[in-house]
Amino acid sequence: MMEQPYADLDTSARILLGPGPSTVHPRVLRAMAHPLVGHLDPQFIALMNEVQELLRTVFQTENALTIPVSGTGSASMEASLCNFVEPGDPVLIGVNGYFGERLCDMAGRYGAEVRRVERDWGEVFSPEDFETALVQKPAKLVALVHAETSTGALQPMAGIAEVVHRHGGLLVMDCVTSLGGVEVAVDAWGVDVAYSGTQKCLSCPPGLGPLTVSPRAREVLHGRGTKVANWYLDLTMVEKYWGGERTYHHTAPISMNYALREALRLVVEEGLEARFQRHRANAEMLWAGLEEMGLEPCVGLEHRLPSLTTVWVPEGVNEAAIRQQLLSEYNVEIAGGLGAYKGRAWRIGLMGYSSRRENVLLLLSALKALLG
Ligand SMILES: Cc1ncc(COP(=O)(O)O)c(C=O)c1O
Repeated sequence: MMEQPYADLDTSARILLGPGPSTVHPRVLRAMAHPLVGHLDPQFIALMNEVQELLRTVFQTENALTIPVSGTGSASMEASLCNFVEPGDPVLIGVNGYFGERLCDMAGRYGAEVRRVERDWGEVFSPEDFETALVQKPAKLVALVHAETSTGALQPMAGIAEVVHRHGGLLVMDCVTSLGGVEVAVDAWGVDVAYSGTQKCLSCPPGLGPLTVSPRAREVLHGRGTKVANWYLDLTMVEKYWGGERTYHHTAPISMNYALREALRLVVEEGLEARFQRHRANAEMLWAGLEEMGLEPCVGLEHRLPSLTTVWVPEGVNEAAIRQQLLSEYNVEIAGGLGAYKGRAWRIGLMGYSSRRENVLLLLSALKALLG
């Protein structure tokens, strides 16, 4: 036998307090280790139905077309655009951070005529911001980010769908960093398409992109004049795989669906309200501790996101060196700033299984020790 040149896999059990992935719940890890069945096996088909039901509960929606897209959050983001956009369609995008920019980039690649409503990083939009832009020119689709992971701002959703619908558009919402940790009420808010990822407040590994599509948006999908420009994400085909027909489209990532089912079961077990409350309480404890140390949050309290906190790096401190020490000396991961916040801010995630009192206490005492 040849000598094994590679060592056994030996990853550290990190405490993941960055912008995602969050620490995976042990029950989710165990679910992933279950034996594989075929993707058209009756057992897997039953599991697909349960995953869809559980996703509806967590999205707070009755939408029939509610599925986990095979791929990360960017895949569900892309599915939310490519299925509803045809070349030349006017699309309006709220840009107040890194992921709004990504939405513009993606929509442009599908031939949309992209217009932007802009706010400074860390700020949020008012319904009037969209009203003003839509009065100038209507849009087939309006997209915005509910929880901007680059800035730590939480977008209030009240009144936005009313404006978008009055002007004849569909509302698309990115809830990658909020689903399962901060209230996401798709039907009550009138959101037509909402997408997320598994590795944030659901505490699953990255790999699936939960997506929900309203009946109105589904009509737009089926009324297209052109084929969806992305074969893999074409919901007219994917919905047949997840729907009653079970027509083969691609092979669903079986173990990831085991994982998501368990993660969603955990959300339902805890209860949505209790879960939001836990995320909020732990975030408030973090904010109080940071402020006690003289660290200034980047976003005002009113629009601060409980699942992801941004804080300015104090003058004269090497932000990357502190992160490195947190990792090597405390086994804790946090992240640096992205885009406009690069080198200037830290990003601290308290998501899903990572949102725990003991993690907050550990991070605060580690930061205290390192910042002196
Ligand atoms: C707000 C937001 N949207 C989209 C994405 C893209 O998700 P993924 O990295 O899973 O592809 C992320 C990832 O961090 C995100 O935070």
